[in-house]
Amino acid sequence: MSQRLPTLWIYLLHLLATVARIDVFATEVSHGVRQYSANATDLVSSENLESAFPYYFPKLTDLENLFPMLDCHGVVLEEATVDQLQEAMNAGQLTSTKIALCYLQRIYQTDEYTNAILELNPDFLEIASNLDAERETGATRGPLHGIPFIVKDNIATKDKMETTAGSWALLGSIVPRDAHVISRLRQAGALLLGKATLSEWADMRSSDYSEGYSARGGQARSPYNLTLNPGGSSSGSAGAVAGNLCTFALGTETDGSVINPAERNALVGIKPTVGLTSRAGVIPESTHQDTVGTFARTVRDAVYALDAIYGVDLRDNFTLAQIGKTPDGAYSQFLTNSDALQNATFGLPWQSFWALASDEQQVSLLGLIEAIEKAGATVINRTELPNYQTIVSPDGWNWDYGTTRGYPNESEFTYVKVDFYNNIKTYLAELQNTAIRSLDDIVQ
Ligand SMILES: *[C@@H]1O[C@H](CO)[C@@H](O)[C@H](O)[C@H]1NC(C)=O
Ligand SMILES: *[C@@H]1O[C@H](CO)[C@@H](O)[C@H](O)[C@H]1NC(C)=O
Ligand SMILES: *[C@@H]1O[C@H](CO)[C@@H](O)[C@H](O)[C@H]1NC(C)=O
Ligand SMILES: *[C@@H]1O[C@H](CO)[C@@H](O)[C@H](O)[C@H]1NC(C)=O
Ligand SMILES: *[C@@H]1O[C@H](CO)[C@@H](O)[C@H](O)[C@H]1NC(C)=O
Ligand SMILES: *[C@@H]1O[C@H](CO)[C@@H](O)[C@H](O)[C@H]1NC(C)=O
Repeated sequence: MSQRLPTLWIYLLHLLATVARIDVFATEVSHGVRQYSANATDLVSSENLESAFPYYFPKLTDLENLFPMLDCHGVVLEEATVDQLQEAMNAGQLTSTKIALCYLQRIYQTDEYTNAILELNPDFLEIASNLDAERETGATRGPLHGIPFIVKDNIATKDKMETTAGSWALLGSIVPRDAHVISRLRQAGALLLGKATLSEWADMRSSDYSEGYSARGGQARSPYNLTLNPGGSSSGSAGAVAGNLCTFALGTETDGSVINPAERNALVGIKPTVGLTSRAGVIPESTHQDTVGTFARTVRDAVYALDAIYGVDLRDNFTLAQIGKTPDGAYSQFLTNSDALQNATFGLPWQSFWALASDEQQVSLLGLIEAIEKAGATVINRTELPNYQTIVSPDGWNWDYGTTRGYPNESEFTYVKVDFYNNIKTYLAELQNTAIRSLDDIVQ
């Protein structure tokens, strides 16, 4: 995370709280051996980053580096990639347990500000030590072995954590099994560190609200600017990766919920084609549009995570459509292959998409087109999305544009609402320990 200047009031509040705490402390010890006269400014300015237990709050004197991230047993964990962490673990410098504990420290340092984490996995230390023991025998399961990740709270985990989509309504409900993507990641040896905050019900809670807010999780904040929300609805997933609270994260998208927070948190977000990743065990919105995607700080890391979760799952028959269309082996094999784009063809939906982008985004696009063409691909302009005049709002994102035009029967949102009404019933039917069985129950 590049540290910029959040609003001063947050610091002032924090400073006040700190001063108040020191006053109490000073009073408490005033009858003892030492008298404390330090105020918060003294304390912060005397902090040494090499201290064993450094004072962790933002330093008002160092606006460029407000939340310095400590090294992890001599390894730079800030912005560390999966490959770097594997190297450090293989060299014996780090273990999964050590990495997880360093991320935990980072969570304690920053999460009161960014609120990306909804819940920590109470089993993470045990899982990490099992994965470490496995590595000691010389066996690793692949690139994600021992790598900590966070998942959006609408993805079911059959463990001691809740799965609630941020709503109190599902608190205590018992899921039948891990979501398919979770069981795949566990098999790949990734370490589930916790659940991420999100926009409640992945945005189905309300049409007029702040992204990243849920009743159960509170308001997530952008790690780049604490006065802003981090986008959504996979808000905490993106915030956790951007803030270096974990190495990668899972989110879900129905319309923008991966790519929006990825863009707003300077991350790579992969929104797979619907059916590439199973939605079984994911609190649904629309069976026709939902997909599970990945967040990471590099393309490679996001692809490692995708490789672990894509594939056919008989509990989600949309995944059958990928048979024969996915590569043998993983997508990551293409990342360092400069021939991979040879003879590929890309369409450029100009009127229906790029013409609506900002000047800055169009400039980035031109650079990308140049790079793609240099790699041997062909780019064809004006391959327009069908029916875009009725679907795509010319005034920014609006999934209810049909209704805005006076035709709710031609609105994406109408259709998503119908899917939600039906699909949520199917999800709820498999839960135990809850009386919530339908949208009507949720509303009540
Ligand atoms: C943070 O966001 C606020 C609200 O948009 C904006 O006024 C402020 O300039 C931003 N701060 C930085 C450092 O970008
Ligand atoms: C805190 O200490 C600094 C440095 O000693 C001093 O300049 C400042 O006035 C003190 N602030 C308060 C509120 O006492
Ligand atoms: C998936 O199953 C549903 C209900 O059983 C069925 O209506 C749908 O056509 C199936 N879709 C595919 C892609 O097989
Ligand atoms: C690209 O197409 C050319 C001409 O059809 C062919 O010779 C070449 O093998 C193709 N390259 C790849 C990587 O498929
Ligand atoms: C694509 O076509 C549109 C409309 O003709 C044009 O304005 C735009 O510059 C073209 N974009 C590229 C990248 O060639
Ligand atoms: C939506 O309803 C209008 C009349 O209210 C009708 O003209 C139009 O064809 C309908 N659109 C679709 C996609 O059915």
